[in-house]
Amino acid sequence: MNCYDVVQDGVSLRCQSATELVTIPAQSYDVVITDPPFGGLLHYSELSDFFHVWLRLPLKDKYLEQFGTEFTPKALECVSNKARQPEDPDGFYKRLLTQCWRESHRILKAGGILAFTFHHSLDEPWLDVLESLFNAGFYLEQTYPIRSDETKGEGAKPGTFGSQKIEYDIVHVCRKRIEEPTPVSWGKMRREVLRSVQQLKDTLELHAKEGLPAADLKMIKCGKALEYYSRHYGKVYVDEGKPISVKEALVGIIQLLDEENSSSYEPPPVTAEPFTRQFLRIFDGTNEQPRDQMQKFLGGTTMSPKAFEERGWCLEQKKVYYLISPLEVAKSWQGKHRQKLISDYDQVMFLIGACFDGSGINVSDTLKNTNFRPHPALGALLSWHIKHGASKEIQTAALRASQIYQAWERQHPDQAKQLQLEFGE
Ligand SMILES: C[S@@+](CC[C@H](N)C(=O)[O-])C[C@H]1O[C@@H](n2cnc3c(N)ncnc32)[C@H](O)[C@@H]1O
Repeated sequence: MNCYDVVQDGVSLRCQSATELVTIPAQSYDVVITDPPFGGLLHYSELSDFFHVWLRLPLKDKYLEQFGTEFTPKALECVSNKARQPEDPDGFYKRLLTQCWRESHRILKAGGILAFTFHHSLDEPWLDVLESLFNAGFYLEQTYPIRSDETKGEGAKPGTFGSQKIEYDIVHVCRKRIEEPTPVSWGKMRREVLRSVQQLKDTLELHAKEGLPAADLKMIKCGKALEYYSRHYGKVYVDEGKPISVKEALVGIIQLLDEENSSSYEPPPVTAEPFTRQFLRIFDGTNEQPRDQMQKFLGGTTMSPKAFEERGWCLEQKKVYYLISPLEVAKSWQGKHRQKLISDYDQVMFLIGACFDGSGINVSDTLKNTNFRPHPALGALLSWHIKHGASKEIQTAALRASQIYQAWERQHPDQAKQLQLEFGE
């Protein structure tokens, strides 16, 4: 059969890259169903070559376009292959996948649907796929976990093709974003997500009784939350001018779901940024964590300790992670422009560090500096550190810093109120 042969009336098969569906007019399809490669390196085209080299012998004269070449085409293959793209294989994969989504977006009618499956786990490739999907102009309408083929790959190494690890897939149903997303604060999103998860509660409890594993229940809740996030993609703000990324959103959602189940524990303030909250949950009342403990804390959160090291929040020495002292943070900001002091964690560490005995840094100077804009979570974070700071010294300094900050709030009631109104809980 020719790749352009009509199979039945109105049905045709085409063999071309999904990045360039040039033969298909814009807005002409109702549904796109696809199963793209998902990150990593699976040698799809090399596997095809195994058959291609034999099939082409009898077929090349009749189907020159498909079998004229010695091997299958590779230039537009959506794959993260270091041998082909030594500089940035993941970036290449993401760019091509986004281009596939863009083409799907182009050929779909305004009310059209895009559906695809992805394996069931909260990991980095999934985030990449979602990000490229949202960047191409789609939002998530619904997510459905489904049981996939559990028998495949018997005996295969976990994490490899055909792994037994993958028991569930998630069907993602997406629509085209027709209007500009409306801005929403992270605080509001959290409330909405909690509300929709509460609404699901009875149904989920029923499924839990029927034996649906906890990991799947979590996946369903995460899916719900991501649906909400995707509708406002690029416009979910944790602070002015600071939209939250897919990764941060997912980290924040997982925290929210965890905390929903544990009422006794006092978590870091919910207005803080997700990475900050995660870090403080780990260093709650302690300034060191063994590496294996750290990894345990981060299991299932899509994060690695590296994310915190890169931010300069902790340092690993002999398999133990140590908190960088607030005093050190405060000193590192000496002589630097306050406009850059924007992260809630940097701000809180700076103020606490400056309040250490003999720091030689004046907190009020920074608060008075017109280039300094307090993060909406700053006050709550300082209060939290009074009880949960990693050491007695930090707790005492946090108390001082909190008092100075409260005095600043009293002197600037309009600015303080505005911050709470826009981004507070
Ligand atoms: C997850 S597999 C799909 C498997 C398929 N559902 C099946 O059951 O055989 C992803 C497929 O996408 C193909 N692919 C990679 N890049 C592509 C591109 N640019 N255009 C179209 N297909 C591509 C790969 O060769 C691979 O066959």
